[in-house]
Amino acid sequence: EKAGFKHFMLKEIFEQPEAILNTVKGRIIPDSGQVDLPEIGLDDETIRGIERIALVACGTSWHAALVAKYWIEKWVGVPVEVDIASEFRYRTLLLNDRVLTISISQSGETADTLAGIRLASQLGSRILTICNVVGSTMTREADGVIYTHAGPEIGVASTKAFTSQLAALFLLTLYLGKVRETIEPETLRELGHALVGIAGVIEEELPTIRSQIQELIERYYDSRDFLFVGRGLNFPIALEGALKLKEISYIHAEGYASGELKHGPIALIDKDMPVMALVPRDGVYQKSISNVEEIKARQGRLVLIGTRGDEHLPTLTDDVLYLPRVHDELNPLLYTIPAQLLAYEIANRRGCDVDQPRNLAKSVTVE
Ligand code: F6R
Repeated sequence: EKAGFKHFMLKEIFEQPEAILNTVKGRIIPDSGQVDLPEIGLDDETIRGIERIALVACGTSWHAALVAKYWIEKWVGVPVEVDIASEFRYRTLLLNDRVLTISISQSGETADTLAGIRLASQLGSRILTICNVVGSTMTREADGVIYTHAGPEIGVASTKAFTSQLAALFLLTLYLGKVRETIEPETLRELGHALVGIAGVIEEELPTIRSQIQELIERYYDSRDFLFVGRGLNFPIALEGALKLKEISYIHAEGYASGELKHGPIALIDKDMPVMALVPRDGVYQKSISNVEEIKARQGRLVLIGTRGDEHLPTLTDDVLYLPRVHDELNPLLYTIPAQLLAYEIANRRGCDVDQPRNLAKSVTVE
């Protein structure tokens, strides 16, 4: 049932191209720029009337929400707030019928997320859920659903559900942008193409990324700590890399926005501190590189993930892993892959129970 893979997690990492494709299939026709989300449960007039969006989720699904904030605010121009469900529930919520609340959940059963949408619904907000499990409680209680079609996820650490959530959230961004006419038809086509194309890019790169990570880990697997840094769309991916590593390898790990290092965490950097930095050649590249140079100046052990052909990276460290250039907006899907594989290979090397990490459950139905 693991189809020749040692663990479900590894199998699920390799299933990501298919999971992403299944999530976008039938919902987008890139050539015509057509995006369709029939189960969304919101008519065009309601969509045009949305004044704010509240995203609610836990753990890895919350990281997907953080990425979606960048996308929706940029392309749809609607303010987006993002909450961890266990915080959302217990703060003062300023919601009404012009706020769309979106829950993101692989299982559709997470207690705090479920309680969050119930509260939002009582306050008059419309509820949309992005979910991987057909018929789960959350999908039954929401006004509309966008299913991620990742297939069953067995490994406790979420992998293909996460990248499928990203794909679904990008689709949603395109759909909202189409209805509200904030995205030009030409741009819609371009972004649609980029979304569909990312699955193929990941498929092609997966084996190379894995073997490059395998070469690295002998020097990193016995680390006590690990930092992950990124900017913009890749900041949430740094958080996700840190979460994956800590939950399956039990190495203490933190993710930071690169620009935040100087406000405290840089004090941690010395010759024993590994730092994985996500530095694609995007709009914030120069800023990211100057943050990386600050880490290098303090002898941090850098692992750089960047754009193929970037000759500056090998001048900063020996441990450079290259990814192809894709549309900047889709970088989070691609840059997730080395972060997941780093966590997987380190945990495997340490002999950890990758699919069943201690203290964790696949579906968190307690508060
Ligand atoms: C981490 C992980 C968890 C879940 C979180 C929310 O790898 O899997 O952080 O993302 O428990 O679960 P769902 O998405 O089912 O609501």
